[in-house]
Formats: sequence, structure tokens, C-alpha cells
Amino acid sequence: MENQIRHVAIIMDGNGRWAKKQNKPRTAGHYQGSENVRNIAIAANEMGIEVLTLYAFSTENWKREKNEVDYLMKLPSVFFSRFLKELMEKNIRICMIGEMDRFPKATADILTEAIEQTKDNTGMILNFAMNYGGRREILLAAKHYAEDVKNGKINNDLDEEKFEHYLMTSEFPSLDLMIRTSGEIRISNFLLWQVAYAELVFVDEAWPDFTPEIFKKTIEEFKRRDRRFGGVK
Ligand code: FPP
Repeated sequence: MENQIRHVAIIMDGNGRWAKKQNKPRTAGHYQGSENVRNIAIAANEMGIEVLTLYAFSTENWKREKNEVDYLMKLPSVFFSRFLKELMEKNIRICMIGEMDRFPKATADILTEAIEQTKDNTGMILNFAMNYGGRREILLAAKHYAEDVKNGKINNDLDEEKFEHYLMTSEFPSLDLMIRTSGEIRISNFLLWQVAYAELVFVDEAWPDFTPEIFKKTIEEFKRRDRRFGGVK
């Protein structure tokens, strides 16, 4: 029987290299990348995927040049003004993992508004990881758990399942597949806990060139994989 697929995560890498190849500024790559978010989200929704988590901005991305960071902070506004209506029509719900507190107010407002407007939608969850880092997520979960123990809210009998309630992904199904575009073979601090038993696929295409057809082929590959979760079949 083929593997069921519920939760897919993508490291959308290669916008900068895509732009450079076309003699365009890096920001043009991010613009094209945001358009591809729309294409892949629509395709994922049509394929019945329940959650698509996209790495849009890592806790390390603040180190980039100011003009690039400023542009990446404007992208949610560019994206939702172009596509929110369509996502709404497709019954897609917007979620976010990461910490909003460092965002410019306008960015936080637009994201909050998109999350609020789509909160009753029952189709796919399009989940943006923004100002997100896997180590930080685990650290925050540990702190939160320690506080709950200190305040007598829970017993000191932590196990993996209980710990998962403290992660930012607690309401989502387990991660099935992580894809990275643009040829690099690393995880870059993305969903470190959740990736434990996910399948990994690395593709050579830059994110703006990662078409719904390539995405579908990736999902087909996932479905054929032999998932054993450490056991024996
Ligand atoms: C990595 O490519 C990409 C990013 C850091 C940004 C990804 C963001 C998007 C694709 C758009 C997100 C859309 C919304 C709506 C928030 P890179 O710049 O590291 O590429 P390079 O490795 O070729 O330089």
C-alpha cells in the first residue's frame, strides 16, 4: 500500500541564485518565490495534503543585508494582497510558526489579519515558518514545560508525546516529507524535532523553478518509499 501523506514541509532555497542567473537583484528572486508559494499551495491543496509548512524566514535570516531583510518583511503584504482572496476561495487556512515579536508592525498586522480571516477555513493549512528556528522552538518548549511544572500545572513525567504539545506544530499531524530545493543537502535548523522520521527529498531546481509538476513527482516518490520508523517490515 502506498504511504499516506498529510504534512509536507519545504525549505524554499535558491531564490538568490535564480535571480543572479537572470541578472536581477536577489529581491526579484524572492518576489518570484512568493508567486511560486501560491502555485505550490494550490497544487498541494488539490492533492489533499493537510498541512504545507514553508520555511519563509529563519531566525538566522536577520543576518542578511538590511535591504533584503526589509524586502522579506514586506513579502507577506505583497503575497496576501495578491493571493489572499484566491486562497480564501480555495478554503485554505493560513497559520504561522515562529515568533512575530521582532517583525515590523505592518508585517505582524498583515499576517495576523490573514490568520484571522482564514481561521474557519477547513481545507489545507498553509503554514508559514517565519522568524522560526528549530533549536529555538525546542528551547522555548523546554522553558514552557519547566514553568508548567514549577506552577504545579502538570506532573514531572514528561515523555515525547507530552513534549510535542509544547512545540509550535502541536496542532498539526506528524511531518511526513521534507523537501529542499536548489541542490543543498542540509536541514538548516528547520523542524528539527519533527523531521526525526520524515522522508527527505532534495531537488536541484531553485525554488522559483520548482513547478507543481516537479512537486507531484516528489510526492509520487514519497508514496513509493519504504517507511519503517525504525522497525522491520
Ligand atoms: C532562500 O533562498 C529563501 C529565503 C530566505 C526566503 C524564502 C521566501 C520566499 C520564497 C517567499 C515567502 C513568501 C511569503 C508569502 C512570506 P536564498 O535567498 O537563500 O537563495 P540563495 O541560496 O540562492 O541565495
